[in-house]
Amino acid sequence: MPTITFTNEKKEIQVPEGANLRKEALRAGVALYPGIHKVANCHGFGTCGSCRVLITKGMENTSKKGILEAARLGVSLAYIGNEDTMRLACQTKVKGDISVTTCPAMNLYGENFFS
Ligand code: FES
Repeated sequence: MPTITFTNEKKEIQVPEGANLRKEALRAGVALYPGIHKVANCHGFGTCGSCRVLITKGMENTSKKGILEAARLGVSLAYIGNEDTMRLACQTKVKGDISVTTCPAMNLYGENFFS
Protein backbone atom coordinates (compact mmCIF):
# COMPACT_ATOMS: atom_id res chain seq x y z
CA MET A 1 0.00 0.00 0.00
CA PRO A 2 1.33 3.45 -0.89
CA THR A 3 2.24 5.82 1.92
CA ILE A 4 1.34 9.51 1.78
CA THR A 5 3.47 11.76 3.96
CA PHE A 6 1.93 15.16 4.70
CA THR A 7 4.95 17.27 5.54
CA ASN A 8 3.19 20.27 7.16
CA GLU A 9 1.07 18.06 9.36
CA LYS A 10 3.85 15.52 10.04
CA LYS A 11 1.35 12.77 9.31
CA GLU A 12 1.73 9.52 7.38
CA ILE A 13 -1.16 7.47 6.06
CA GLN A 14 -1.36 4.32 4.00
CA VAL A 15 -3.86 4.24 1.17
CA PRO A 16 -4.96 1.72 -1.45
CA GLU A 17 -3.18 2.00 -4.80
CA GLY A 18 -5.10 4.36 -7.07
CA ALA A 19 -6.66 6.28 -4.17
CA ASN A 20 -7.74 9.87 -4.69
CA LEU A 21 -5.40 12.25 -2.86
CA ARG A 22 -8.15 14.74 -1.86
CA LYS A 23 -10.43 12.08 -0.42
CA GLU A 24 -7.64 10.42 1.54
CA ALA A 25 -6.37 13.73 2.92
CA LEU A 26 -9.83 14.77 4.10
CA ARG A 27 -10.48 11.32 5.57
CA ALA A 28 -7.23 11.64 7.54
CA GLY A 29 -8.20 15.05 8.88
CA VAL A 30 -5.58 16.93 6.88
CA ALA A 31 -6.45 20.61 6.34
CA LEU A 32 -6.35 20.66 2.56
CA TYR A 33 -8.05 23.99 1.95
CA PRO A 34 -6.83 27.41 3.02
CA GLY A 35 -9.17 29.94 4.66
CA ILE A 36 -12.62 30.39 3.16
CA HIS A 37 -11.99 27.53 0.72
CA LYS A 38 -12.70 25.08 3.54
CA VAL A 39 -16.37 25.62 2.70
CA ALA A 40 -16.18 27.39 -0.67
CA ASN A 41 -14.62 24.82 -2.97
CA CYS A 42 -15.78 22.73 -5.91
CA HIS A 43 -15.83 19.50 -3.87
CA GLY A 44 -13.45 17.67 -6.17
CA PHE A 45 -14.64 18.66 -9.63
CA GLY A 46 -11.30 20.20 -10.54
CA THR A 47 -12.58 23.69 -11.21
CA CYS A 48 -11.82 25.87 -8.16
CA GLY A 49 -8.09 25.19 -7.86
CA SER A 50 -8.15 25.52 -4.08
CA CYS A 51 -6.93 22.00 -3.38
CA ARG A 52 -3.47 22.82 -4.77
CA VAL A 53 -0.65 20.83 -3.20
CA LEU A 54 3.02 20.31 -3.90
CA ILE A 55 4.19 16.75 -4.46
CA THR A 56 7.67 17.15 -3.03
CA LYS A 57 8.65 13.50 -3.45
CA GLY A 58 7.29 10.76 -5.66
CA MET A 59 5.61 12.70 -8.48
CA GLU A 60 6.30 9.64 -10.64
CA ASN A 61 4.01 7.71 -8.29
CA THR A 62 0.96 9.78 -9.20
CA SER A 63 -1.44 9.77 -12.13
CA LYS A 64 -0.61 12.07 -15.03
CA LYS A 65 -2.17 15.53 -15.19
CA GLY A 66 -5.34 15.54 -17.23
CA ILE A 67 -6.47 18.31 -19.56
CA LEU A 68 -8.83 19.83 -16.97
CA GLU A 69 -6.17 19.85 -14.27
CA ALA A 70 -3.51 21.31 -16.57
CA ALA A 71 -5.91 24.00 -17.74
CA ARG A 72 -6.97 24.93 -14.19
CA LEU A 73 -3.42 25.07 -12.90
CA GLY A 74 -2.32 26.99 -15.98
CA VAL A 75 -4.44 30.01 -15.03
CA SER A 76 -3.12 30.10 -11.45
CA LEU A 77 -0.30 32.46 -10.49
CA ALA A 78 0.74 29.96 -7.84
CA TYR A 79 1.60 27.50 -10.62
CA ILE A 80 4.41 29.68 -11.94
CA GLY A 81 7.70 28.15 -10.88
CA ASN A 82 5.97 25.07 -9.46
CA GLU A 83 5.04 23.36 -12.72
CA ASP A 84 6.93 20.18 -11.85
CA THR A 85 5.51 19.74 -8.35
CA MET A 86 2.06 21.33 -8.16
CA ARG A 87 -1.09 19.22 -8.49
CA LEU A 88 -4.75 19.46 -7.72
CA ALA A 89 -5.34 16.92 -4.95
CA CYS A 90 -8.82 16.14 -6.27
CA GLN A 91 -7.42 15.13 -9.65
CA THR A 92 -4.45 13.11 -8.37
CA LYS A 93 -4.42 9.36 -7.93
CA VAL A 94 -1.77 7.85 -5.69
CA LYS A 95 0.11 4.89 -7.15
CA GLY A 96 3.11 4.76 -4.81
CA ASP A 97 4.80 6.60 -1.95
CA ILE A 98 4.59 10.39 -2.09
CA SER A 99 5.29 13.41 0.11
CA VAL A 100 2.78 16.24 0.00
CA THR A 101 2.87 19.86 1.11
CA THR A 102 -0.64 21.22 1.56
CA CYS A 103 -1.67 24.87 1.15
CA PRO A 104 1.60 25.94 -0.51
CA ALA A 105 2.40 29.62 -0.19
CA MET A 106 2.64 31.68 -3.34
CA ASN A 107 6.21 32.87 -3.81
CA LEU A 108 5.89 36.24 -5.54
CA TYR A 109 9.59 36.90 -5.16
CA GLY A 110 10.96 33.56 -6.33
CA GLU A 111 13.68 33.61 -8.93
CA ASN A 112 11.35 32.11 -11.54
CA PHE A 113 8.27 34.27 -10.95
CA PHE A 114 8.96 37.12 -13.35
CA SER A 115 11.43 35.35 -15.60
S1 FES B 1 -11.49 20.71 -4.99
FE1 FES B 1 -11.75 22.27 -6.46
S2 FES B 1 -10.09 21.95 -7.82
FE2 FES B 1 -9.88 20.36 -6.37
